[in-house]
Amino acid sequence: MKVLVTGGAGYIGATICSALIDAGHTPVILDSFVNGRREYADGRISYEGDIADAALLDRIFSGHADIACAIHCAALITVPESVSDPYRYYRENVGKSTELFHQLVEHGVKRVIFSSSGAIYDDVPDFEVTEDAPLNPRSPYARTKFMMEQVLRDYTAAYDLKAIALRYFNPIGADPKLRTGLQQKLPTHVLGKLISVAAGREPEFTLTGVDWPTRDGTAIKDYIHVWDLARAHVVAAERFDDAFEPKSEKFSVINLGTGTGVTVREIVTAFEKVLGREIPKREAPPRDGDVPGAYANAEKAARLLGWRTERSIEDGIADALRWDEVRDTILK
Ligand SMILES: NC(=O)c1ccc[n+]([C@@H]2O[C@H](COP(=O)([O-])OP(=O)(O)OC[C@H]3O[C@@H](n4cnc5c(N)ncnc54)[C@H](O)[C@@H]3O)[C@@H](O)[C@H]2O)c1
Repeated sequence: MKVLVTGGAGYIGATICSALIDAGHTPVILDSFVNGRREYADGRISYEGDIADAALLDRIFSGHADIACAIHCAALITVPESVSDPYRYYRENVGKSTELFHQLVEHGVKRVIFSSSGAIYDDVPDFEVTEDAPLNPRSPYARTKFMMEQVLRDYTAAYDLKAIALRYFNPIGADPKLRTGLQQKLPTHVLGKLISVAAGREPEFTLTGVDWPTRDGTAIKDYIHVWDLARAHVVAAERFDDAFEPKSEKFSVINLGTGTGVTVREIVTAFEKVLGREIPKREAPPRDGDVPGAYANAEKAARLLGWRTERSIEDGIADALRWDEVRDTILK
C-alpha cells in the first residue's frame, strides 16, 4: 500500500515510515524540514514543502495516484513555544491542516490517520483515561490537536472521507534498527534528563513530587516505545475499516498507550537496571503547575485493531541510550 506521511522526516513520522517499509508498504514523505531531518528522508520517496501547498500536493498525486491513505504527523509540537507564539501554532497546525485535508479530499483520498495527543485530556481521579474521558486541552499546542479532531469529524460528516485520530501518549526510544530517533541532543522529558545525568551532562536527577496519590507517590505518565507507536499506524492503515465502532461511523478516536503507565520512580529504577548502575538523585516537592499525570486505557486499540504495546519501558530506555551513542554519526 502506498501511504502519504506528512512530517515523515520527523521523530515519529520517520519511525512510521520505517515500520511501513518493514511491513512491505511504500511511504511517500511530505515534509518542510522545519524540524525534520533530511537524513531521515534519504533513500525514501520524499517531497520537500508545506502541507498547505496545493500545487505541491497536485504534483505528489500526479506521481502517486495510488496513495490509499494519508498519515498526518506534520505539526509544530513545542508547548512553551505555542504559549509564546500561538499565531504560528494555529496557522501551522490548524489553518494548514484544514487546507491539507481539503486537498486530500479533492485528490480522492478517503482514509486519514491523524496524530492527536493524550495532552487534550482533563485530569481524572484514577489517572486512567478512556477515549470518552473529559477533555481539557491546556496549551495552545494541545488546543490545535483538539481543534483538528473537531475539523476532521466535520469533514468526515460532510465529505467522502473517514478518519482515525490516534491520541499518542509519551513516545520514547528510537527505531530498534537505529535508522532514526529523536533529533534533539537534549530531550526535555524525564528519560532525556536521566540520560543527561548518566552521561555526566547534569549532576543529579530530581524526583519532583513524591506525595501524589499514585501507586508510589511519584507522577505517572504513559511512556510508549516509538516503535510500538509506529506499528500501530501500520495496523491502523492495514485494518482501517475495523477502527470504527459502530462500523457506520466515519470518525474514530483511539488511544495509543501501554494501559498501565509508568511512575517516575519506576522509570528511574528501570533506567538504573538498564544502565547497570545507580545515578545520583534526590527528591523534591512538586513545582508550580506539576500534575500527577495520566495514562491511557488501551482497550479500544486492542479490541478494534488487535494492537497492544509489545516493548517494555526497559526496551525504550535501552534504545534511547543506543540512539544517544549513534545519533551524531547519523545526523550531520
Ligand atoms: N513527540 C510527542 O511526544 C508527541 C505526543 C503526542 C502527539 N505528537 C504528535 O505527533 C506528530 C509528530 O511529532 P514528532 O514528535 O515526530 O515531531 P517532529 O517535530 O519530530 O516532527 C514533525 C514534522 O513535521 C514537519 N512539519 C511541521 N510543520 C510542517 C508543515 N507546515 N509542512 C510540512 N512539514 C511540516 C517538521 O519538519 C517535522 O519533520 C505531531 O503531530 C505531534 O503533535 C507527538
